Amino acid sequence: MQNFTFYLPTEIVFGRATEFCVGQEVRKHGGTKVLLVYGGRSAKESGLLDRVKQALADEALAVAEWGGAQPNPRLDHAEAGVELALREQVDFILAVGGGSVIDTAKAIAHGTANPGVRLWDIWTGKAQLTRSLPVGAVLTIAAAGSETSDSAVLTNMEVGKKAGINTPLNRPVFAIMNPELTCTLPKYQIACGIADIMMHTLERYFLPDQKNQMTDEIAEGLLRTVMANGRIAVRDPHDYDAMSEIMWCGSLSHNDLTGLGRPKDFSVHKLGHALGARFDCAHGASLTSVWGSWAEYVYRNDVGRFCHYGEKVFGLDGEISEQNARAAIAATVGYFREIGMPSSLSELGIGLQEDAVLRELALDATKGDTVELSFIRRLKAEDVHQIFRMANH
Ligand code: NZQ
Ligand code: ZN
Repeated sequence: MQNFTFYLPTEIVFGRATEFCVGQEVRKHGGTKVLLVYGGRSAKESGLLDRVKQALADEALAVAEWGGAQPNPRLDHAEAGVELALREQVDFILAVGGGSVIDTAKAIAHGTANPGVRLWDIWTGKAQLTRSLPVGAVLTIAAAGSETSDSAVLTNMEVGKKAGINTPLNRPVFAIMNPELTCTLPKYQIACGIADIMMHTLERYFLPDQKNQMTDEIAEGLLRTVMANGRIAVRDPHDYDAMSEIMWCGSLSHNDLTGLGRPKDFSVHKLGHALGARFDCAHGASLTSVWGSWAEYVYRNDVGRFCHYGEKVFGLDGEISEQNARAAIAATVGYFREIGMPSSLSELGIGLQEDAVLRELALDATKGDTVELSFIRRLKAEDVHQIFRMANH
């Protein structure tokens, strides 16, 4: 096991009707004037936004509003949010929504605490981030894990790039997680969320074995739990117990717990972000559309790991053989299909792509062939190009 530090400062308030506590939570964490950040329609239409505003008013908190965050959240929208936050002199950013809204809130918090610094410079590492404003989250979809993660992802439409940053300053101070809020989700979004939760665990799992038995057991248990409850949830989004399990898995999957004591990979995410920036597709779907091809490309370098995974997660024969490793990959892709997630670019809904486009996607994913992806098998741009080719059907 490698050395690690694990610090999770986010206070989690979980369960029915917990959104009514949001005013008290903001007060407890030092907020006096709040920028309320939300997405397109869902929070308004469900009445959640009104309940949140009432809870803030009950604590006599002043509020400014910034709606309109969209999936694959945009840099320019976050920048405009920073201007508003500075004008209104807010001292707390409250996200009501999913990963796109929470990441927008994180970006606004960073920009507001660092006036004059361009957000994209922070996202590209040109500007060093040393302070931010506190962010709280009222979560409405179990997926990205942004409510407890140290990461935030933005899309810069001008340069056609989607990028994330990791910093402890990205951890929200609290996350309100009421699974009831997720029952209005379309089934496709529920499935995208399940896929993303699985992927956050898989990206920490398929690394050369570092002898992390406890971490492995957490990851395997989480995968079994989210898959079993995912089956129920896509049939019945009103199943509170299933939605609760998925929501809890979502946070645990991306707060680093499932990867303690070993490095983090996230290569499939790099491929997914390249697809998301170019085709504006749903994040979870972008990941499943290439995961099987990625696994097929790398598994021979660590057949044993894939067999162990198949045994622990799917109850397959764990004896080390190519056949069993392939069975584990097939079982995973089969599960994606079962919940309605794509396993190829055409199933992702973007059609078959020209080879030149696949090459550009590979360059985007590898920052122009300057970084190598994956640990089981190191991937240069040409390898990633090959993976996109394998998914191009
Ligand atoms: O905008 P509204 O109307 O709210 O609609 C949203 C959106 O269309 C809808 N929705 C959310 N809650 C709902 C609901 N519809 C009905 N009822 C509800 N309760 O769902 C759609 C997707 O929302 P979004 O916030 O985009 O989903 P998700 O949580 O999957 O976030 C995806 C974004 O997070 C990034 C992704 O790249 C993507 O940009 N990620 C962020 C991470 C992080 N910060 O740690 C890690 C992830 O790997 C991921 O990269
Ligand atoms: Zn993700």
